[in-house]
Amino acid sequence: MKVILAKHSGFCFGVQKAIEKAFEEMDYAKKQNQDIYSLGPLIHNKQVVDDLQERGLILSDTINEIQSGSIIIRSHGVPKQIYKDIKSKGLQLIDTTCPFVKRIQKIVDQYHRDDYTIVIVGSATHPEVIGINGWCSHEGYVIQSPEDIHRIPSNKPLCIVSQTTMPIPLFENVVAALKEQHPNIKVFNTICLATQDRQEAALELSQEVDAMIVIGGRHSSNTQKLVELCRRILPLNTYAIEQSSDLDQYDLSHYETVGITAGASTPNYIIEKVIEKMDKTYRKVRQIAIDGPAGAGKSTIARMLAKKMNFLYIDTGAMYRAITLKVLKNHVNIFDQQEMHVLLTQTELDLKDGQILLDGQSISDEIRTGDVTENVSKLAAMKEVRTWLVEIQQRIASENHVVMDGRDIGTVVLPNADLKIFLTASVEERARRRYLEIKEKYQNEVDFDEIKRTIQNRDFEDENREIDPLIPAADSVHIDTTQLSIEEVVQKIQLLFDKNTHQAHA
Ligand code: DC
Repeated sequence: MKVILAKHSGFCFGVQKAIEKAFEEMDYAKKQNQDIYSLGPLIHNKQVVDDLQERGLILSDTINEIQSGSIIIRSHGVPKQIYKDIKSKGLQLIDTTCPFVKRIQKIVDQYHRDDYTIVIVGSATHPEVIGINGWCSHEGYVIQSPEDIHRIPSNKPLCIVSQTTMPIPLFENVVAALKEQHPNIKVFNTICLATQDRQEAALELSQEVDAMIVIGGRHSSNTQKLVELCRRILPLNTYAIEQSSDLDQYDLSHYETVGITAGASTPNYIIEKVIEKMDKTYRKVRQIAIDGPAGAGKSTIARMLAKKMNFLYIDTGAMYRAITLKVLKNHVNIFDQQEMHVLLTQTELDLKDGQILLDGQSISDEIRTGDVTENVSKLAAMKEVRTWLVEIQQRIASENHVVMDGRDIGTVVLPNADLKIFLTASVEERARRRYLEIKEKYQNEVDFDEIKRTIQNRDFEDENREIDPLIPAADSVHIDTTQLSIEEVVQKIQLLFDKNTHQAHA
């Protein structure tokens, strides 16, 4: 299954700012030992509201019972009278009204004073609209369709605004109908761009996929608008959810492509969790990521594990080595971006029967020579090389069950792998293993200290490079192999994999 996120989705600018400010002010209030209130839920997202309440935000429906402390006005805004009440009660005001909503309130306030009749295109029960109407003494006419315009008196000029989350065609239809009947009319299209972008992107994506998932609060008006738009294209295949656990009630396995969008009050972490769950539940292939420093036993363990599980083993280090070999053979100046770009576009790297093919030829021990080993870190630190290889690695892993080892597998290449392992061993032990390996393979006398130094240098370069440095993924399992046999490690990983994959399907 392919999962595609809409071009625009999730937190809008106004909500992002409101939430950041709320968290900041709550920290401050805590330090000052002050109560901090919000008039109604800060945003229409239960998970975020629960989090804020856990951190001490007190939810209040009215200002009447609040005697002291700070009060947050949410991004939807409030009627003018509330500002007066807050002032007269001596409460500390924290205003997170969205700047786009503030603009509507100012227009309404001004035109009401100039004796216009105010028309608000929107939902009369939505807090944003109640707030806006409170800037014209609640004398505005709230309408939701051209059929409602007969209610509007014609004795005065009209000022028309829109709730920020209205669909554009609806606003345009209402305006067109009003223009036919009223000669003196002032129109302000106050639909915000974030809403427009999200709606257009959702519609566009709905036409490309088999099903849509819309993430957001049940009470979030803009989320419900997205649901409605997606249902126009996919009436039976649009799923409205609040969080990843809501996916449990559906079986989406028969869809090939699923689109995801989210309302303007849905935080990123919720969207990410949904994508992660979709990937883990419906991806047909299994992935084990093994990262760690040179000589920790990654390749031996990964190869043996793959064989036992009948998975494909992918040695990504060998891929970095392969391109390094080609660079050296062709005497390419790696600091010349143009030369490197040409080389990459003219290189084919693939996997056949577990063997890496460089331009169709299988490569052997030549990628393990001193020359390649000395230069590979430089290439592995280059953005263009990494992007090129990560794409190849991800493609292979999307088509096969894989055990993939490297430095950035759990963090970059397979962020949703079923299991992530971070293998370590002491530098001495790693140097000892390399020493024995070289001695056995090449029957050469080798210098242990020299090997240890090379390992330390490579650790330093891999851990400190700017792009995709060697760091354990937050959700990886660390295994120190210094005191363990290869078989013990392989067995341990197999048990962890079984446990993880059963959990994922529980
Ligand atoms: O695992 P190895 O020693 O064959 O790796 C060769 C080099 O490639 C090493 O310096 C780290 C780098 N590498 C990387 O940066 N990212 C990977 N996924 C794999 C290897």
